[in-house]
Amino acid sequence: MNSSPLPKETEQDYGSNPTKVRHTDKYKSEYIHGFVEKWDELIDWQARAESEGSFFIDELRKRGVKRILDVAAGTGFHSVRLLEAGFDVVSADGSPHMLAKAFQNGTEHGHILSTVQADWRWLNRDVHGKFDAVICLGNSFTHLHSERDRRKALAEFYAALRHDGVLILDQRNYDSMLDDGFSSKHTYYYCGDNVKAEPEHVDDGLARFRYTFPDGSSYNLNMFPLRKAYVENLMQEVGFQQVHTYADFQETYRTENPDFYIHIAEKHYHNEPDHPVIVDEGNAPRKPAGQD
Ligand SMILES: C[S@@+](CC[C@H](N)C(=O)[O-])C[C@H]1O[C@@H](n2cnc3c(N)ncnc32)[C@H](O)[C@@H]1O
Repeated sequence: MNSSPLPKETEQDYGSNPTKVRHTDKYKSEYIHGFVEKWDELIDWQARAESEGSFFIDELRKRGVKRILDVAAGTGFHSVRLLEAGFDVVSADGSPHMLAKAFQNGTEHGHILSTVQADWRWLNRDVHGKFDAVICLGNSFTHLHSERDRRKALAEFYAALRHDGVLILDQRNYDSMLDDGFSSKHTYYYCGDNVKAEPEHVDDGLARFRYTFPDGSSYNLNMFPLRKAYVENLMQEVGFQQVHTYADFQETYRTENPDFYIHIAEKHYHNEPDHPVIVDEGNAPRKPAGQD
């Protein structure tokens, strides 16, 4: 099979003023061939699965989920894991490089992934049918740079769900980065020492990270620093009836200042006046997907 008709760029282009690049469409030219290949080569899926544990699988099973839409499939890690756990999975992503890699990884694990190239803002134009769960993992939602795009994407996720479906979305803990400034700008390592991630620039509208690989090559991602309470409120405003937020321990195992949050937003309507809308669940037993 012809491996890929896609361009094989190895250099990202942020122009002369990289910290001014703050628009949602940028993600497509951030995940270029070189970055995707390097990332996938160096992230050990086994180590990632072990560090994440069965948290997502347990939460999905607990809710009787059968059909899942992985809207940020990336290189396919969660799609493959969930297929192997017996779920029915559709893998979507807006990046052609990511989807191509996910498909290739799927076949290498003995699966033909059901893939759809779809941008979240127009998700239901390209993905049809209803799902018991939508997952948006690996700090992906941070790629949306305007509130309008975030609302639209969440509304599309909501619409893709069955009447009692659930959205699982994780995010980096940007509150500590925004509030504590440089002191919280520590280096993050993923699944061993292969990928080093460091914030290069953080302000209210941008978290620019640099990813450095053992061969010295480096790539960037320009992301929007999502505050935890902001995401919870947005989910509620688009119609989710209850949002449970879990905190992980991540690499540092700090309970009061976790690296990641996981939001589980339920569509199910509880017809009781004092039913809590936003619930902090404390710490999840294991760390979640450590990628962004
Ligand atoms: C940080 S990666 C995470 C991939 C995967 N979930 C993981 O954990 O390994 C973020 C993914 O979100 C996708 N993405 C970002 N913005 C998107 C959008 N507006 N629509 C669809 N996909 C998007 C990117 O193409 C990329 O594959």
